[in-house]
Amino acid sequence: MKTVVITGANRGLGLGFCKHYLSAGWQVIALSRVKPDIEISNIITDKQKAHFHHIDIDLLSEESINNSYSKVAKITSSVDLVLNNAGVAEHEKFGHWTQQAFIKSFTINAIAPALLTQTISPLLSNNAKVIQLTSGLASLHEHIGPLEDFESYSMSKVAVNMLSLRLAVKLAERQITVCSISPGWVKTSMGGDEAPTSVSQAVTDITNTIEELTISQSGGFFDELGNSLSW
Ligand SMILES: NC(=O)c1ccc[n+]([C@@H]2O[C@H](COP(=O)([O-])OP(=O)(O)OC[C@H]3O[C@@H](n4cnc5c(N)ncnc54)[C@H](OP(=O)(O)O)[C@@H]3O)[C@@H](O)[C@H]2O)c1
Repeated sequence: MKTVVITGANRGLGLGFCKHYLSAGWQVIALSRVKPDIEISNIITDKQKAHFHHIDIDLLSEESINNSYSKVAKITSSVDLVLNNAGVAEHEKFGHWTQQAFIKSFTINAIAPALLTQTISPLLSNNAKVIQLTSGLASLHEHIGPLEDFESYSMSKVAVNMLSLRLAVKLAERQITVCSISPGWVKTSMGGDEAPTSVSQAVTDITNTIEELTISQSGGFFDELGNSLSW
């Protein structure tokens, strides 16, 4: 049985990923501050629910991230997929920017994926995949919406893209594929109600893309359909 570790697993895309992988017969290790409510899903059988594990984590805390190693290791010695999905989007107008918002964005969106992957790294199977949920707003080339208030968010997602590039090289010897995937604009509390894409559609697209990723694409920056995005 394959095992996936998912951060931000209690709502939005993270909860969607939990349900998808449970239904597909994977063992799911959900890392979040709040326990995900998978009971609300009638597509998941009782047998599949037995393969669900929750680990409490606060991605603002290095200690909490590092403590997750022994908790994951108690469940499995072989992780096939890490989804660094948790994220925050702070919206501060120029003139009202604060150090606190930049630090929070970088800590959760870029530093936590780096530290969590490092912590879990000894448990990663050869041929595992490590995916950072990033954003089109991280594209320096596209430079989307510079008049909108996404500075701490977009800067932190540029940083997590660099993490993918650098980790891809460090983990290449073990044939581990490391990529950044932008989910598109999705109806979650972050994306808002006007977003055109449902969580279930985004999860279908992203999980298909992950399934098809190969080691030759490691270090890449892709959209939900697997198209390359420009840095
Ligand atoms: N939705 C979109 O349109 C969109 C577009 C581009 C990129 N993305 C990216 O896709 C990913 C998922 O987004 P989403 O739309 O599903 O967001 P969401 O619904 O706002 O969910 C964010 C998740 O991150 C978790 N999180 C935040 N701070 C945390 C902390 N300190 N410790 C542990 N978990 C924490 C939240 O947990 P709590 O409930 O405990 O806060 C929640 O589970 C993010 O990386 C986001 O940047 C989303």
